[in-house]
Amino acid sequence: MYILGMESSCDETSAAVVEMGDGVRAIRSNIVASQIDVHRLYGGVVPEIASRAHIEAVSRITYQALEEAGITVDQLGAVAVTAYPGLIGALLVGVNFAKSLAYSRKLPLVAVNHIHAHVAATYLSHPHLEPPFLALVVSGGHTSIYRVESYTDFTEIGSTRDDAAGEAFDKIGRVIGMPYPGGAALDKLAYEGDPRAIALPSPALHGDTLDFSFSGIKTAALNYLNSMEQKGLAINPADVAASYTDQIVKAIVKKAELALERTGMKTLVLSGGVAANSHLRAALQKMCATRGVVLAMPERGLCGDNGAMVAAAGYFEFLCGKFADTSLNASASDDGL
Ligand code: KG4
Ligand code: ZN
Repeated sequence: MYILGMESSCDETSAAVVEMGDGVRAIRSNIVASQIDVHRLYGGVVPEIASRAHIEAVSRITYQALEEAGITVDQLGAVAVTAYPGLIGALLVGVNFAKSLAYSRKLPLVAVNHIHAHVAATYLSHPHLEPPFLALVVSGGHTSIYRVESYTDFTEIGSTRDDAAGEAFDKIGRVIGMPYPGGAALDKLAYEGDPRAIALPSPALHGDTLDFSFSGIKTAALNYLNSMEQKGLAINPADVAASYTDQIVKAIVKKAELALERTGMKTLVLSGGVAANSHLRAALQKMCATRGVVLAMPERGLCGDNGAMVAAAGYFEFLCGKFADTSLNASASDDGL
């Protein structure tokens, strides 16, 4: 069946048509209208501007998604939309649009958890992947580890107690002069620096916990940058990028390894915007190879927010008969509706 997936939880408006069924997981279109250029002027996402940009783009990208897929609205089997978590004003745009479309065409409507959607992106890149597995979702808003028991059944077993890894990358990226969002730029720059140049604390919390804290490393990096400035000393941005990335990557690998050990899971999924990070991908690949664990990741183009992952997650909710009605609301919180 064809599913329309709609995403508007942060700064990308996206609509996609995905074909899902027995042995079929195929992206027919995946249109992403990024607002990055607008938010870049402010050094971060401005929620009201995001909502307004979603409103402007949502109809156009939906038409485009259907056109590129070569289907009409009436060939859709369902409409799936991100309903939580995210920026509330931004989410409401997608939810309201999806509701109206589903209502007007009498199509089933499915509410999707954005985190589940990031994990579902992996199904599109790995057609044979199926639960159970361990999932690591690392994005601008989340750094969490889940036991994924079935396509729709997630249990969080570890998470960040403060900032997310993506947020931490973006903050330091901005301070050393990278355009927003700094994550992708730091990824490249880190290859030119020395990962041992600057001593920074690990974001992996001590002991048995599977939790992280990224506020310490962020503050330590800021303090280092400020003290260098006060002393009138030049910094080497590549060394900052390399040292910062190295500690973040090591911390994520460490907790992922502990989670694998504890759960005995033999498959690890890495997803979310930060899953595009080449250092993280390589380090997890190495750890998983050593442990005989299968590592599955979406292709880099599917790591960031997109409608295809929402459609894929929506399909599995659809199979469980979990439909939303016209009273569907959005929620900023991870806990849902
Ligand atoms: O999943 P996503 O698109 O949005 C949220 O749900 O938050 O993730 C966006 C985050 C941003 O913080 C961005 O800097 C980060 O993903 N990101 C990266 C890379 N590409 C995107 N972080 C590190 N390395 C990358 N290559
Ligand atoms: Zn996301």
